[in-house]
Amino acid sequence: MKSDLADLAFFGGPAAFDRPLLVGRPNRIDRAKLYERLDRALDSGWLSNGGPLVQEFEQRVAELAGVRHAVATCNATVALQLLVHGAGLTGEVIMPSMTFAATAHAVSWLGLTPVFADIDPHTGTLDPERAAAAVTSRTSALLGVHLWGRPCAPDGLRKVADEHGLPLFFDAAHALGCAVDGRPAGSLGDAEVFSFHATKAVNAFEGGAVVTDDAEFAARVRALHNFGAGLSGAGPAGGTNAKMSEAAAAMGLTSLEAFPEVVVCNRRNHAAYRAELADLPGVRVADHDSHGINNHQYVVIEIDAETAGFHRDVLRDVLLAEHVHTRAYFSPACHQLEPYRRSRHAPLPHTEHMAERVLALPTGTSVGDDEIRRIGEVIRLCARQGPDLTARYRATPPSPAVATPTIGRTR
Ligand SMILES: Cc1ncc(COP(=O)(O)O)c(C=O)c1O
Repeated sequence: MKSDLADLAFFGGPAAFDRPLLVGRPNRIDRAKLYERLDRALDSGWLSNGGPLVQEFEQRVAELAGVRHAVATCNATVALQLLVHGAGLTGEVIMPSMTFAATAHAVSWLGLTPVFADIDPHTGTLDPERAAAAVTSRTSALLGVHLWGRPCAPDGLRKVADEHGLPLFFDAAHALGCAVDGRPAGSLGDAEVFSFHATKAVNAFEGGAVVTDDAEFAARVRALHNFGAGLSGAGPAGGTNAKMSEAAAAMGLTSLEAFPEVVVCNRRNHAAYRAELADLPGVRVADHDSHGINNHQYVVIEIDAETAGFHRDVLRDVLLAEHVHTRAYFSPACHQLEPYRRSRHAPLPHTEHMAERVLALPTGTSVGDDEIRRIGEVIRLCARQGPDLTARYRATPPSPAVATPTIGRTR
């Protein structure tokens, strides 16, 4: 029981956990089913190039996304590049800065310019009005991001896209199984991209998918992800190797089978965090339910330092000393990262405001009521003594435990 600041591991008390709790620890799967699928692939000798497991995975992903076509890829970053290249985009792509660097990197890697537009402060997703204001003669697409699985405002963005004759795409890396107004993420844009990275609610070790209802576009992306094999007609030439392997699809299918249970667990965890952290001044658990159906893979708290008396980074360090590895999704925001610091964009006050406050807490199948209760106890203690915590934090040199960089199992 921690009731005094001196009880916090940061100030010399015993750590709340003896094993690290991580944001993005892979969810539980039925290993026997995974091994059975891997055995099948090994026995068949068909290990890549659109084997039966990849085909089945693509079908399942397309169903979940409510679209006709899914092309599975080796990761979502390359899937985004396939989307950009396949659509023949040039010049500028408008996107939010409140996202993982991969969204911007995928665009700039192909020689295009990401142009950041501000978010709606309530949803954290691309604000259609700000997106419209960022359109220039060089703009070739809008690329929204379903932040934390919250689907973007699809109608507002569609209107902007239509008014300017632009395609509308979404980075749906977080949003498998999410929906708004009965429309699943994956079906809201002209094409969208999912991530099946190990840290995601459904993982294929590494993996991604481009999903779309457009048969011609799907065929082009499929060709491009396989060295351009069979490409015909007008459109971008070339190609790359972005194929998903059978081993990855074996994991993806097994993880998909566990997904309904994972969502139930995530939802329960989210509710438990909300109960633990209810009514704390300056600390708010971001609610996803008012933004459509969510897979709840991200529990994010927002800390208003002025009201709470301590900054998000103080809590991050305090929790790290307790062996709770939080993540500031997404801080720094993309435009604050080195490659984009000097990029041209309108002011992004809502993005900067949100990036300054957010902290993702561990959830998923490796976290339960007991862990959430103990994490809640630490955060409540911090909130009760915010100004004292800050004063004492400033007077404490960083301990080796806190200075240790986060281990590579999450990001
Ligand atoms: C919003 C967003 N886009 C893209 C990616 C890239 O996904 P991947 O790791 O599968 O390349 C991530 C990864 O975490 C992400 O969070």
